[in-house]
Amino acid sequence: MPAYICGVGLHAPANIANHDLEARVETSDEWIVTRTGIRQRHIAQGEVTSDLGTQAARAALADAGLDAADVTHVICATCTPDSYCPNTATQIARKLDLAAPMALDLNAACSGFLYALQMARALTTLEPGATVLVVAAEVLSSRVNWTDRTTCVLFGDGAGAAVVRAQPAARAIEIVDAMLESDGSHGGLLTILGGGSARPYAPGEPVGDDFFVQMNGREVFKVAVRSMTDVCRRMLERHAMTVDDLDMFVAHQANLRIIEAVGKKLDLPAHKVFANVQRYGNTSAASVGIALAEGCADGTFAPGGRVLLTTFGAGFTWGAVLLQF
Ligand code: ACO
Repeated sequence: MPAYICGVGLHAPANIANHDLEARVETSDEWIVTRTGIRQRHIAQGEVTSDLGTQAARAALADAGLDAADVTHVICATCTPDSYCPNTATQIARKLDLAAPMALDLNAACSGFLYALQMARALTTLEPGATVLVVAAEVLSSRVNWTDRTTCVLFGDGAGAAVVRAQPAARAIEIVDAMLESDGSHGGLLTILGGGSARPYAPGEPVGDDFFVQMNGREVFKVAVRSMTDVCRRMLERHAMTVDDLDMFVAHQANLRIIEAVGKKLDLPAHKVFANVQRYGNTSAASVGIALAEGCADGTFAPGGRVLLTTFGAGFTWGAVLLQF
């Protein structure tokens, strides 16, 4: 059964430049740009994850030319939900005034958007009349330790959304294939532990450092490059394609050096390697959803083109999705 992305949308709150962080931690615009490529990120001011997701979802429905009443399922990919219960998808459905859709959260960290696309594809196969709203939204600023310069400069808030159906609509991007993978043995290298069942808090206990993102940046960097390169090679092989057959390549927007390293290992020319990490920072699950919406809006992804998406995140989780525009 073919599945199509029929509409895309994004939402990002107000932005904060590197210079604004210099007042919070001992860092510099020069260090951040040289090591990561990031020049600014967007930080939610009073908005929660479902607020960002709802705005992106509205934009995606408008792009698809569909109404909220058409939506049958909501999948929210996030590792920074509004709360553990209720889940964030139900709150997006409430804010969109949807009529009793199936609504679930999915946590695959930065791979969340691609994992959710594959789940949406499965749902449209089981229920060919389904209209699945995929929303990848994060308020990472709520789980970043703003006194830790090794992590706080990297992340940003935002949301990307896609409407997935078995039939094309105003927009018709075919999800040709998806490969989603994981390896839990590296779980300790990138964590948000505090508040989970393995690290519960007693009533009145102050949160510790483990309430926030903790990361071994160097190790994550190496595994991220290796995993995304490997899964992309296998995806291309599976379709008897080379990088010459690709029109654009979109990797998880975590760090410009990671994106460029994967591009080089795949022998991709620089003009085919998408990057907007400079303006968003690492928005985790939302990253590739935002990239897709931005690239559709500005014509980067043209009709007829083939685009390969790849992600890598905590867990570790990673994957690749091949799109035909
Ligand atoms: N400002 C100034 N100096 C800093 C900062 C900062 N914000 N952060 C760290 N430093 C210092 C370190 O303390 C260290 O100083 P030292 O040499 O005196 O000890 C020095 O800069 C170098 O630190 P490194 O960690 O070696 O720097 P590196 O070049 O590895 O870059 C970075 C760090 C940017 C975190 C890099 O390792 C990276 O991008 N890793 C991948 C991170 C990532 O993308 N994670 C998410 C992927 S998955 C997901 O999105 C969930």
